[in-house]
Amino acid sequence: MKPIHIGLLGVGTVGGGTYTVLKRNHEEIARRAGRDIVITMIADKDLEKARKLADPSVIVTDNAHEITTHPDIDIVVELIGGQTIAKDLILEAIAHGKHVVTANKALLANHGTEIFAVARAKGAIVAFEAAVAGGIPIIKALREGLTANRITWIAGIINGTANFILSEMREKGLSFAQVLEQAQKLGYAEADPTYDIEGIDAAHKITLMSAIAFGIPVQFSKVYTEGITQLTGEDIRYAEELGYRIKLLGITKRVEKGIELRVHPTLIPMRRLIANVEGVMNAVVVKGDAVGATLYYGAGAGSEPTASAVIADLVDVTRMQTADPMHRVPTLSFQPDLLSDTPVIPMEEVETAYYMRMQVIDKPGVMADITRIVADYNISISALIQKEASADSNTVSIIMLTHLTVEKNINAAIVRIETLSVVTGKVIRIRIEELKD
Ligand code: NDP
Ligand code: HSE
Repeated sequence: MKPIHIGLLGVGTVGGGTYTVLKRNHEEIARRAGRDIVITMIADKDLEKARKLADPSVIVTDNAHEITTHPDIDIVVELIGGQTIAKDLILEAIAHGKHVVTANKALLANHGTEIFAVARAKGAIVAFEAAVAGGIPIIKALREGLTANRITWIAGIINGTANFILSEMREKGLSFAQVLEQAQKLGYAEADPTYDIEGIDAAHKITLMSAIAFGIPVQFSKVYTEGITQLTGEDIRYAEELGYRIKLLGITKRVEKGIELRVHPTLIPMRRLIANVEGVMNAVVVKGDAVGATLYYGAGAGSEPTASAVIADLVDVTRMQTADPMHRVPTLSFQPDLLSDTPVIPMEEVETAYYMRMQVIDKPGVMADITRIVADYNISISALIQKEASADSNTVSIIMLTHLTVEKNINAAIVRIETLSVVTGKVIRIRIEELKD
């Protein structure tokens, strides 16, 4: 059978890995796909880099449009990133009858609805396994493996850079800045690393997973997002003392009022497997009503792990492209005309448990003042600890864990606690997830 011709846009970390792995495992991949999958054209701004990587038979250009419009290209692989040029190129490729594989979660979280609709109208496939959790085949699991289930929640460590930073800070006591620099050198971080540390990248990924899990449109604007920049070594240590580990989690849940969609640092009981996922590794727990909790684990970023997901998509598209578009696996798992309008609920209405730490002047009545405020908002305390004062300070840390409570009540209580004259500074608040049911 005639080989499938691939045009590769961008040979940076992921594009370079994709070329290398496809070349190395070429024969085995062809046996799976049923035909050869060959990269025949490459576009990169840096022609020298592209020429160094590619075999002489590959056409190298710095004009990506040559590829997206070329009649001999069957599948365009977009690995440039960003939301402007990448979007134009993907739309142009689709308009020219090509299928698309991309790792670009930022683009799909923001413009997925438009891109998927254009692709559907043209009978084109847009595949994006590499966009979520690097090498872990979580899109395939959600879209195909778990289709019998009514999914109730997903919780994932889905940003390798943030997890790498938290692990290195905890294990080696390194500073935030030191570890971020390392993650950038290793090719884990986004072009703009604030996406990683402010939770935006994780928000892109949980948006995509939520759409596939619940059959709702891709709604990035509705995600509540909080990153790891405010986390201190002190809270990481106190959490450990209480039997928890702090992770940046992407969470989406089906609850009575709608869908929760959020990213924030989270205390997870240390005994959960996911609490022990360290470094650049990612893990996603998916709870389905039939299967129960399932856990997917693997490298969440990096050249070859991400290439593994890109190439899996290439094989899938190669296998599926001859099928009638009506009988292909739907992009978001649910049939596109059967998406649900279940609302994403505002963060203020979300119910979780909380860890709070406050610095207070060590004198009688302080604890009573604080607990009175908490009681006024119907917040039930599950643990309350006062740390010993250091020799050179008259303040102590109070750590409070709560039972499940509504976010708006915690917010209101924090505002009042911070007005107490005995409380110095801001109250630190981190959400807790038990991840058991
Ligand atoms: P890189 O920055 O390493 O690679 C992007 C490449 O595209 C660079 O070689 C860049 O050239 C080239 N490029 C930029 N603009 C153009 C253009 N107009 N035409 C042709 N080439 C261009 O990024 P990554 O490989 O890390 O990421 C690529 C995508 O994969 C992003 O969407 C990212 O979010 C996603 N992703 C990345 C992962 C990772 O671990 N790195 C994991 C999962 C997804 P130059 O360097 O000269 O600008
Ligand atoms: N910057 C991302 C991360 C790359 O660190 O997880 C993988 O999507």
